[in-house]
Amino acid sequence: MDLQESILSRRSVRKYTSDKISKSDIETILKAGLSAPSAKNCQPWELIVIQEQKNLQKISQVSPHGAMLKNASFGIVICSDLDKAVNFEYGVIDTSACVENLHLSAHGLGIGSVWIGVYPRMERVEKLQEIFNLSKNIIPTHMMAFGYPAEEKKPANRYDQDKIHWEKW
Ligand SMILES: Cc1cc2nc3c(=O)[nH]c(=O)nc-3n(C[C@H](O)[C@H](O)[C@H](O)COP(=O)(O)O)c2cc1C
Repeated sequence: MDLQESILSRRSVRKYTSDKISKSDIETILKAGLSAPSAKNCQPWELIVIQEQKNLQKISQVSPHGAMLKNASFGIVICSDLDKAVNFEYGVIDTSACVENLHLSAHGLGIGSVWIGVYPRMERVEKLQEIFNLSKNIIPTHMMAFGYPAEEKKPANRYDQDKIHWEKW
């Protein structure tokens, strides 16, 4: 699949088979995440990779929209290190770029994934800090669930010329 096809066919996948994802595929996805752009190239991300069922169960309860983590092959909690980020807001933006890279890389390998919002819901941020005993400078900003797809999602064509403003609004 070429890059453009991959971007255009990516969808959120929330249902997974029980097939295991190999360590090497997980590492390929992680490499893509850590290759994302970041403000001043500060790379403030720290990723917590979760494969154990009891831990997937725990993080699935952090968000009312994260139940799919229970049946995922693995999950990732994406954090921003405030000691490395240009500032709080840029840390959130940088880790969002990391998430999109993780999402697209998984899709390219035939692995489904979904982005699960954490920040700015501070109760979710605080729950994750508690679960993983994180220091206050480590802000969990997003979570993701990964697994081989057990649902088919058709590409969504969202190209809308009315959203493009050539030279002027
Ligand atoms: C910041 C952000 C937070 C999201 N949070 C959730 C979530 O908590 N649970 C979920 O199932 N999907 C979540 N999504 C996925 C969106 O619902 C999904 O991307 C959107 O509906 C478009 O569908 P598609 O990804 O299949 O193209 C989130 C996406 C973004 C960008």
